[in-house]
Amino acid sequence: MFRSKNILWITFAFCVTTGSCEDVYQQSGTDVKMDCPSAKPNAEIEWKLNNVLVLGISTTGRERKGSLHVSQRARIEKTSLKITAVKSEDSGVYTCSTTTHKLYVVSAHANPSSVLYSTGTNLNCDVTKDFKGTICWTAPDSKSYSQSKSMTVVESVTSDNAGLWTCHITDVNGKEVFKLNVKITVVGPLNTTEEVTTYEGGIAELPCFLPAPSTLPITGGSWTSETASHISFPALMRTNSDVKWNSTGVSTDKVTVRDEQLNKYFNVTLKRVNADDAGVYVCSLVFEGGKSLSAKLKLTVLKTTPTPDNGSGDSNVTWYTPVSGVPLWVWVAVAVSTVFLVVIIILIYCRNKRMKRKMKKLKSKQLSLKSRVYCTCGRADNSRVQGKESTRTGKRERPPSLPRHQYSYLNE
Ligand SMILES: *[C@@H]1O[C@H](CO)[C@@H](O)[C@H](O)[C@H]1NC(C)=O
Ligand SMILES: *[C@@H]1O[C@H](CO)[C@@H](O)[C@H](O)[C@H]1NC(C)=O
Ligand SMILES: *[C@@H]1O[C@H](CO)[C@@H](O)[C@H](O)[C@H]1NC(C)=O
Ligand SMILES: *[C@@H]1O[C@H](CO)[C@@H](O)[C@H](O)[C@H]1NC(C)=O
Ligand SMILES: *[C@@H]1O[C@H](CO)[C@@H](O)[C@H](O)[C@H]1NC(C)=O
Repeated sequence: MFRSKNILWITFAFCVTTGSCEDVYQQSGTDVKMDCPSAKPNAEIEWKLNNVLVLGISTTGRERKGSLHVSQRARIEKTSLKITAVKSEDSGVYTCSTTTHKLYVVSAHANPSSVLYSTGTNLNCDVTKDFKGTICWTAPDSKSYSQSKSMTVVESVTSDNAGLWTCHITDVNGKEVFKLNVKITVVGPLNTTEEVTTYEGGIAELPCFLPAPSTLPITGGSWTSETASHISFPALMRTNSDVKWNSTGVSTDKVTVRDEQLNKYFNVTLKRVNADDAGVYVCSLVFEGGKSLSAKLKLTVLKTTPTPDNGSGDSNVTWYTPVSGVPLWVWVAVAVSTVFLVVIIILIYCRNKRMKRKMKKLKSKQLSLKSRVYCTCGRADNSRVQGKESTRTGKRERPPSLPRHQYSYLNE
């Protein structure tokens, strides 16, 4: 008993002469409990902050409450003082009998903690004003930043800055006495593909997206093109709680959008692309507070489908590839049937011509035959007479050649 009292007295003397004693570091908003080992059993207990009464309990068990703010959140458990949800104003020197505690209330925050890509944020690690140690931050990529004045400024955040930042509190003796984490979320960058290529009459999806769903409220957004100002695009608009595309006055034959995942994807699809739709398109988003992000892409419109044997075949020509707005297979079908028709017509024409020629020839032959038949007939009478005579004389006459002639002509 005597010994422990002596030790306590020495500790107290040390506290008084050096002005420091047991230091207590506590994060703001949490509960703290400080013990009073020097309290005499069954004696009156009195807790003071900077020599002003916080709470006291008399020997009869009656509680006396001080007028400090902290008195409202404090209670005595046996001899210990318990404070719920400490605030920075609660910091100071707490005494009970001969026991002394110095309470430091610490806090850390990033303002804002959701940061738009390439804008800045302030990191603030706060310890009670009379703290004499040092404060520094380590970034998610392990880089170290010392905190001067009361904050560390991070300018122009990138994706590398997203994650947990740690505030290290080191006392005058170089001992790390407390560590606090703060989370930073980076919204953006807005991304797209650099170049989109399509064919005349085809479609083109223009992508525009955030790497992750936005943690900042989106208040508006749009697609624009200086080179294709004849196209009107829908605009993003904020309704009570969510974002939607307003397609009023937009030709859905030309531009379509999807009301899906409008915290991440802001694509538009162009249909029936013309040569004059080619150019630079800009997608932009506006966030609460008026700051914005944008992304640019170039649309290339090809006039004709390239031949598949050009290059490594990175152009896929199919029967359905549109050529001047009509699928290739229609063009091929039209060409094939045209050739077919022409061939048929030529064949018919030739046949008709030949037939006519033949008929003509035949007619003239028949005419000459008729006259010959007539003549032969006349001669036949003679020959019969002659034949009779010749049989008589034993001479034979050649038979008339008419039937053979006629036959061969018809067969020709
Ligand atoms: C938007 O485009 C991106 C990139 O092409 C694609 O990954 C995504 O699925 C598209 N999202 C929607 C909703 O169309
Ligand atoms: C943005 O797009 C570029 C090129 O496509 C890509 O390299 C980069 O990783 C993308 N960034 C994000 C955050 O998606
Ligand atoms: C949609 O946009 C038009 C103008 O482009 C505007 O007049 C109209 O009020 C908007 N609709 C809504 C619901 O905000
Ligand atoms: C394919 O054609 C394009 C233009 O028609 C030309 O620029 C390119 O060099 C060609 N590629 C090859 C591999 O021949
Ligand atoms: C061409 O189309 C086929 C089938 O649709 C596909 O498998 C192939 O990857 C395509 N090639 C290129 C270079 O796009």
